[in-house]
Amino acid sequence: MSQSVSINKLNEHVDQQVTLQGWMARNRPSGKVQFLVLRDGTGLCQCVIEKGVLPDDLFDQVKRLGQESSMAVTGTVRAEERSVGGHELAVTDVRIIGPAVDYPITPKSHGTEFLMRHRHLHLRSQRQWAIGKIRHTVVDAIRRFFNDNGFTLIDTPIFTTIAGEEVGSLFEVDYFGDPIHLTQTGQLYLETAAMSYGKVYCFGPTFRAEKSKTRRHLTEFWMVEPEVAFIDLPGLLELAETFVSSIVSRVLADNRSELEQLEADIPALEKIQAPFYRLTYTECVDILTSDRTRTFLAQQMTEFQTQKAIIESRISELETQQQGSVKQWQKDKIAAELIDLRSEQSELDTKIENNPKHAELAANFQWGKDLGGSDETIISMMHDKPVFVTHYPRKAKAFYMKTDRSNEQVVENFDCLAPAGFGEIIGGSVREDDYDTLINRVKEEGLTPENYSWYLDLRKYGTVPHGGFGLGVERTVAWITGEKHIRQCIPFPRMMDKVYI
Ligand code: 4AD
Repeated sequence: MSQSVSINKLNEHVDQQVTLQGWMARNRPSGKVQFLVLRDGTGLCQCVIEKGVLPDDLFDQVKRLGQESSMAVTGTVRAEERSVGGHELAVTDVRIIGPAVDYPITPKSHGTEFLMRHRHLHLRSQRQWAIGKIRHTVVDAIRRFFNDNGFTLIDTPIFTTIAGEEVGSLFEVDYFGDPIHLTQTGQLYLETAAMSYGKVYCFGPTFRAEKSKTRRHLTEFWMVEPEVAFIDLPGLLELAETFVSSIVSRVLADNRSELEQLEADIPALEKIQAPFYRLTYTECVDILTSDRTRTFLAQQMTEFQTQKAIIESRISELETQQQGSVKQWQKDKIAAELIDLRSEQSELDTKIENNPKHAELAANFQWGKDLGGSDETIISMMHDKPVFVTHYPRKAKAFYMKTDRSNEQVVENFDCLAPAGFGEIIGGSVREDDYDTLINRVKEEGLTPENYSWYLDLRKYGTVPHGGFGLGVERTVAWITGEKHIRQCIPFPRMMDKVYI
């Protein structure tokens, strides 16, 4: 019996006899040799099977095996630079474990709808695998950062009795006859714990019944929220920039090959270091309504139209080829490229349609409104590092945010916008710590003060300046990987219009 090893450890076994266990990603015949690419969850390895080495009937069975058949393959490890993963296996034995026939996801492209309905299988694809590995690192980096910096983990409840964010985005649950809600944020509970431990964080699933079908919205997402006693806004910004930089540098260190595979912008990620840009909301409004933004959006429109023309000419070239006499495999290749190009074309159509709307929204932006998705995108497009936008209008923000005592129209809050058009990944603030001001804000928002009595108590018994923020995991993973839609950044996405499996 040879030793069972994983593909990512093959470099330790060159010239040795080993057994790999996994699934067949590809199988290509070439005369009397079968090139079978095996994946085992740690990597890919080309297994070279020569006729005559295996018994004839086994060789024939292997030849006919379908994509995703599971097997154990034994052979000698050879260093082979040209091969995927840098090693090859010269096969001496194959044990078929579970044959797969007509695996629905073939190497040719499929539409999003199809892949989402096959999410249980799509998770095996190389792209999803790489995103999952990066998500794993992001989550680990988050926990490490807080654990290494004196924070205590507090698990806040998922069933909650009060609203922490907009009441309209609460999911109601029938709790033995009483209506309660799924958590939108652990923050209010976390504030109570900050008064016990000083520095705390919670990390878990979060639910928002937001009626948004955008690429940035899920109804169930993961959020990490730190909360710190005795901190001010500059302190929070410093914490957030050190934190975000630490996540990005961990991914760069641990997942370079996955980033390369996903064609993520590695040089742009290498720039993500403190200090980040700092703009007030009022400065953002000035930017949005300026000539700079008008010119910027006009340039973007020209770029979109140029890209669209290139794509359209390639589509018509491929359509002509498709009608000619080409072999079946060439037809499949053309069909796959056409699916990708048509999806890019439809994305560009949306951008071209939205550009004038976004330009109009920006030009007519009125001080006092919350920044919308398109406004954030514009600001973030103009920067190569994350941007902190601080001091939003009090009226546009949550009741718990501290009113700025030097300008009562604004609050001491911030959003962190990831660069290059990605947009918001963090929202946070200093909390209102004065009892009377807070109770007035609760009433102003039409909330019932009695429901918040325990939260208000914190301001009665040893109140202190404190604050925190929340970072969305899926948005962070999407930004780092360059994935367009955050639904690809969680294994089983839940969206407003769709829950697939
Ligand atoms: O800005 P938000 O709403 O902040 C809070 O919930 C605060 N209570 C956090 C705090 O101060 N402790 O949300 C924080 C982050 C956003 O920046 C975004 O990354 C993510 O959570 N997020 C979503 N991600 C995916 N889908 C949604 N529907 C999201 N809503 C918010």
